[in-house]
Amino acid sequence: MIGIFDSGIGGVTVFKEIKKELPNYKYIYYSDSYNNPYGEKSRQELEMITSNIVKYLINQGCKIIVIACNTASTICKEYLRDRYDIPIIAIEPAYKMVYDYNYSGKTLILGTKGTLNSNNFKELYHKYDNHNTVIYECNGLANLIENNKQEEIVKYLNDNLKQFLGVSNVVLGCTHYPLIKKEIKDVLGNVNFFDGSKGVVKQLKKVTQEINLEESNYSLKFIDTSNDLKKEDRFLEILKAS
Ligand code: DGL
Repeated sequence: MIGIFDSGIGGVTVFKEIKKELPNYKYIYYSDSYNNPYGEKSRQELEMITSNIVKYLINQGCKIIVIACNTASTICKEYLRDRYDIPIIAIEPAYKMVYDYNYSGKTLILGTKGTLNSNNFKELYHKYDNHNTVIYECNGLANLIENNKQEEIVKYLNDNLKQFLGVSNVVLGCTHYPLIKKEIKDVLGNVNFFDGSKGVVKQLKKVTQEINLEESNYSLKFIDTSNDLKKEDRFLEILKAS
Protein backbone atom coordinates (compact mmCIF):
# COMPACT_ATOMS: atom_id res chain seq x y z
CA MET A 1 0.00 0.00 0.00
CA ILE A 2 1.13 3.54 -0.81
CA GLY A 3 0.13 6.49 1.39
CA ILE A 4 -0.25 10.00 -0.03
CA PHE A 5 -1.04 13.16 1.89
CA ASP A 6 -1.67 16.86 1.47
CA SER A 7 -3.38 19.67 3.37
CA GLY A 8 -6.63 18.76 1.60
CA ILE A 9 -7.62 17.59 -1.83
CA GLY A 10 -4.96 19.54 -3.79
CA GLY A 11 -2.70 16.50 -3.91
CA VAL A 12 -5.23 14.95 -6.29
CA THR A 13 -3.21 16.72 -9.00
CA VAL A 14 -0.29 14.49 -8.02
CA PHE A 15 -2.33 11.35 -7.39
CA LYS A 16 -3.88 11.64 -10.85
CA GLU A 17 -0.43 11.31 -12.46
CA ILE A 18 0.49 8.50 -10.07
CA LYS A 19 -2.66 6.54 -10.89
CA LYS A 20 -2.05 6.89 -14.63
CA GLU A 21 1.46 5.47 -14.40
CA LEU A 22 1.11 3.07 -11.47
CA PRO A 23 -2.47 1.80 -11.54
CA ASN A 24 -1.84 -1.59 -9.94
CA TYR A 25 -1.38 -0.67 -6.31
CA LYS A 26 -3.45 -0.01 -3.24
CA TYR A 27 -3.52 3.62 -2.11
CA ILE A 28 -4.60 5.68 0.86
CA TYR A 29 -5.09 9.39 0.23
CA TYR A 30 -5.01 11.42 3.42
CA SER A 31 -6.61 14.83 2.92
CA ASP A 32 -5.72 16.94 5.95
CA SER A 33 -8.18 19.71 5.18
CA TYR A 34 -8.77 20.32 8.88
CA ASN A 35 -5.26 21.78 9.07
CA ASN A 36 -5.41 23.69 5.78
CA PRO A 37 -3.60 25.95 5.05
CA TYR A 38 -0.18 24.47 5.80
CA GLY A 39 1.50 27.38 4.06
CA GLU A 40 1.12 29.77 6.96
CA LYS A 41 2.00 27.35 9.79
CA SER A 42 5.28 27.25 11.72
CA ARG A 43 7.91 24.58 11.12
CA GLN A 44 7.19 23.04 14.56
CA GLU A 45 3.48 22.81 13.91
CA LEU A 46 4.05 21.25 10.51
CA GLU A 47 6.56 18.75 11.85
CA MET A 48 4.04 17.62 14.45
CA ILE A 49 1.13 17.43 12.02
CA THR A 50 3.01 15.60 9.27
CA SER A 51 4.73 13.26 11.70
CA ASN A 52 1.33 12.13 13.00
CA ILE A 53 0.11 11.57 9.46
CA VAL A 54 3.14 9.49 8.50
CA LYS A 55 2.76 7.42 11.70
CA TYR A 56 -0.90 6.82 10.90
CA LEU A 57 -0.19 5.80 7.30
CA ILE A 58 2.53 3.39 8.41
CA ASN A 59 0.11 1.84 10.92
CA GLN A 60 -2.38 1.38 8.09
CA GLY A 61 0.21 -0.72 6.27
CA CYS A 62 1.75 1.79 3.86
CA LYS A 63 5.22 0.83 2.59
CA ILE A 64 5.91 4.11 0.79
CA ILE A 65 4.76 7.64 1.66
CA VAL A 66 4.29 10.41 -0.90
CA ILE A 67 4.16 13.98 0.38
CA ALA A 68 1.88 15.54 -2.24
CA CYS A 69 2.30 18.99 -0.76
CA ASN A 70 5.13 21.38 -1.59
CA THR A 71 4.90 23.11 1.78
CA ALA A 72 5.14 19.94 3.86
CA SER A 73 7.84 18.57 1.55
CA THR A 74 10.12 21.58 1.50
CA ILE A 75 9.82 22.15 5.25
CA CYS A 76 9.53 18.65 6.75
CA LYS A 77 11.01 16.04 4.43
CA GLU A 78 14.36 15.73 6.24
CA TYR A 79 12.63 15.66 9.64
CA LEU A 80 10.32 12.86 8.53
CA ARG A 81 13.02 10.86 6.75
CA ASP A 82 15.19 11.01 9.88
CA ARG A 83 12.36 9.63 12.02
CA TYR A 84 10.69 7.00 9.88
CA ASP A 85 12.38 4.05 8.31
CA ILE A 86 10.26 3.99 5.16
CA PRO A 87 10.80 5.62 1.75
CA ILE A 88 9.32 9.12 1.78
CA ILE A 89 8.94 10.76 -1.61
CA ALA A 90 8.68 14.53 -1.53
CA ILE A 91 7.39 16.82 -4.26
CA GLU A 92 9.29 20.03 -5.04
CA PRO A 93 8.43 23.15 -7.06
CA ALA A 94 9.28 22.28 -10.67
CA TYR A 95 11.87 25.02 -11.21
CA LYS A 96 14.40 22.54 -12.60
CA MET A 97 11.92 21.80 -15.40
CA VAL A 98 12.13 25.44 -16.47
CA TYR A 99 15.93 25.10 -16.53
CA ASP A 100 15.61 21.97 -18.67
CA TYR A 101 12.83 23.05 -21.05
CA ASN A 102 12.61 26.82 -21.35
CA TYR A 103 15.64 28.32 -19.66
CA SER A 104 15.48 31.75 -21.21
CA GLY A 105 11.75 32.26 -20.68
CA LYS A 106 10.51 34.88 -18.25
CA THR A 107 9.35 32.85 -15.27
CA LEU A 108 6.92 33.30 -12.40
CA ILE A 109 7.11 30.96 -9.42
CA LEU A 110 3.96 30.72 -7.32
CA GLY A 111 3.93 29.02 -3.93
CA THR A 112 2.95 29.33 -0.30
CA LYS A 113 4.80 31.45 2.21
CA GLY A 114 6.15 28.29 3.87
CA THR A 115 7.48 26.83 0.64
CA LEU A 116 9.05 29.99 -0.72
CA ASN A 117 10.80 30.81 2.55
CA SER A 118 12.14 27.30 3.09
CA ASN A 119 15.84 26.51 2.76
CA ASN A 120 15.04 23.70 0.35
CA PHE A 121 13.30 26.10 -2.02
CA LYS A 122 16.07 28.70 -1.75
CA GLU A 123 18.66 26.08 -2.62
CA LEU A 124 16.65 24.91 -5.61
CA TYR A 125 16.14 28.47 -6.77
CA HIS A 126 19.83 29.36 -6.63
CA LYS A 127 20.84 26.12 -8.31
CA TYR A 128 18.57 26.59 -11.33
CA ASP A 129 18.26 30.39 -11.41
CA ASN A 130 17.64 31.52 -15.00
CA HIS A 131 18.09 35.19 -13.98
CA ASN A 132 14.72 35.97 -15.45
CA THR A 133 12.44 34.86 -12.64
CA VAL A 134 10.03 36.48 -10.20
CA ILE A 135 8.72 34.75 -7.10
CA TYR A 136 5.27 35.40 -5.67
CA GLU A 137 3.81 34.25 -2.34
CA CYS A 138 0.16 33.41 -2.87
CA ASN A 139 -1.05 33.78 0.70
CA GLY A 140 -4.56 32.45 1.12
CA LEU A 141 -4.90 31.02 -2.39
CA ALA A 142 -4.60 27.31 -1.50
CA ASN A 143 -7.35 27.76 1.08
CA LEU A 144 -9.70 29.34 -1.47
CA ILE A 145 -9.07 26.44 -3.85
CA GLU A 146 -9.53 23.89 -1.08
CA ASN A 147 -12.89 25.42 -0.28
CA ASN A 148 -13.87 25.81 -3.93
CA LYS A 149 -14.48 29.57 -3.68
CA GLN A 150 -14.62 30.16 -7.40
CA GLU A 151 -15.50 33.86 -7.44
CA GLU A 152 -12.91 34.70 -4.81
CA ILE A 153 -10.26 32.75 -6.72
CA VAL A 154 -10.94 34.76 -9.88
CA LYS A 155 -10.78 38.02 -7.92
CA TYR A 156 -7.58 36.94 -6.15
CA LEU A 157 -5.87 36.15 -9.46
CA ASN A 158 -7.02 39.38 -11.08
CA ASP A 159 -5.88 41.45 -8.11
CA ASN A 160 -2.52 39.75 -7.69
CA LEU A 161 -1.27 38.25 -10.95
CA LYS A 162 -2.00 40.98 -13.50
CA GLN A 163 1.31 42.62 -12.59
CA PHE A 164 3.09 39.58 -14.08
CA LEU A 165 1.52 39.78 -17.53
CA GLY A 166 4.19 38.89 -20.08
CA VAL A 167 5.74 35.88 -18.28
CA SER A 168 6.00 32.73 -20.38
CA ASN A 169 6.62 30.11 -17.66
CA VAL A 170 4.57 29.64 -14.51
CA VAL A 171 5.82 27.23 -11.84
CA LEU A 172 2.86 25.94 -9.86
CA GLY A 173 4.68 25.45 -6.57
CA CYS A 174 1.66 24.23 -4.63
CA THR A 175 -0.30 21.12 -5.49
CA HIS A 176 -3.61 22.99 -5.28
CA TYR A 177 -2.65 25.40 -8.09
CA PRO A 178 -2.93 23.01 -11.07
CA LEU A 179 -6.66 22.98 -10.29
CA ILE A 180 -6.91 26.61 -11.41
CA LYS A 181 -4.77 26.55 -14.57
CA LYS A 182 -7.67 27.82 -16.64
CA GLU A 183 -8.27 30.77 -14.30
CA ILE A 184 -4.55 31.61 -14.31
CA LYS A 185 -4.53 31.57 -18.12
CA ASP A 186 -7.50 33.92 -18.12
CA VAL A 187 -5.24 36.46 -16.41
CA LEU A 188 -1.78 35.68 -17.82
CA GLY A 189 -2.61 34.32 -21.26
CA ASN A 190 -1.17 31.20 -22.83
CA VAL A 191 1.71 30.46 -20.42
CA ASN A 192 3.64 27.18 -20.00
CA PHE A 193 2.87 25.48 -16.69
CA PHE A 194 5.35 23.44 -14.69
CA ASP A 195 4.46 21.33 -11.67
CA GLY A 196 6.25 18.68 -9.66
CA SER A 197 3.90 15.74 -10.18
CA LYS A 198 5.92 14.09 -12.99
CA GLY A 199 9.02 14.14 -10.79
CA VAL A 200 7.09 12.41 -8.00
CA VAL A 201 5.85 9.68 -10.35
CA LYS A 202 9.38 9.05 -11.62
CA GLN A 203 10.68 8.69 -8.06
CA LEU A 204 7.77 6.55 -6.98
CA LYS A 205 8.28 4.13 -9.88
CA LYS A 206 11.92 3.79 -8.95
CA VAL A 207 11.17 3.13 -5.29
CA THR A 208 8.41 0.57 -5.97
CA GLN A 209 11.00 -1.39 -7.97
CA GLU A 210 13.75 -0.95 -5.39
CA ILE A 211 11.63 -2.29 -2.54
CA ASN A 212 9.79 -4.80 -4.76
CA LEU A 213 6.40 -3.50 -3.77
CA GLU A 214 3.97 -6.18 -4.84
CA GLU A 215 1.37 -5.13 -7.42
CA SER A 216 -2.31 -5.80 -6.73
CA ASN A 217 -5.75 -4.67 -7.88
CA TYR A 218 -6.15 -0.91 -7.68
CA SER A 219 -7.94 0.40 -4.63
CA LEU A 220 -8.21 3.81 -3.02
CA LYS A 221 -9.16 4.68 0.52
CA PHE A 222 -9.87 8.39 0.97
CA ILE A 223 -9.66 10.01 4.37
CA ASP A 224 -10.50 13.64 5.12
CA THR A 225 -9.73 15.14 8.51
CA SER A 226 -12.47 17.76 8.48
CA ASN A 227 -15.05 15.00 7.98
CA ASP A 228 -16.56 16.93 5.11
CA LEU A 229 -18.36 14.26 3.09
CA LYS A 230 -18.31 16.40 -0.05
CA LYS A 231 -14.49 16.31 -0.20
CA GLU A 232 -14.33 12.73 -1.40
CA ASP A 233 -16.88 13.38 -4.18
CA ARG A 234 -14.92 16.41 -5.36
CA PHE A 235 -11.65 14.45 -5.18
CA LEU A 236 -13.09 11.60 -7.27
CA GLU A 237 -14.65 13.99 -9.75
CA ILE A 238 -11.29 15.71 -10.37
CA LEU A 239 -9.61 12.33 -10.60
CA LYS A 240 -12.05 11.20 -13.27
CA ALA A 241 -11.90 14.38 -15.38
CA SER A 242 -9.36 14.26 -18.19
N1 DGL B 1 -1.03 21.73 -1.46
C1 DGL B 1 -0.24 22.45 -0.51
C2 DGL B 1 1.13 22.77 -1.14
O1 DGL B 1 1.49 22.15 -2.12
C3 DGL B 1 -1.06 23.56 -0.03
C4 DGL B 1 -0.45 24.38 1.02
C5 DGL B 1 -1.35 24.94 2.06
O2 DGL B 1 -2.14 24.18 2.65
O3 DGL B 1 -1.18 26.12 2.35
O4 DGL B 1 1.89 23.58 -0.67
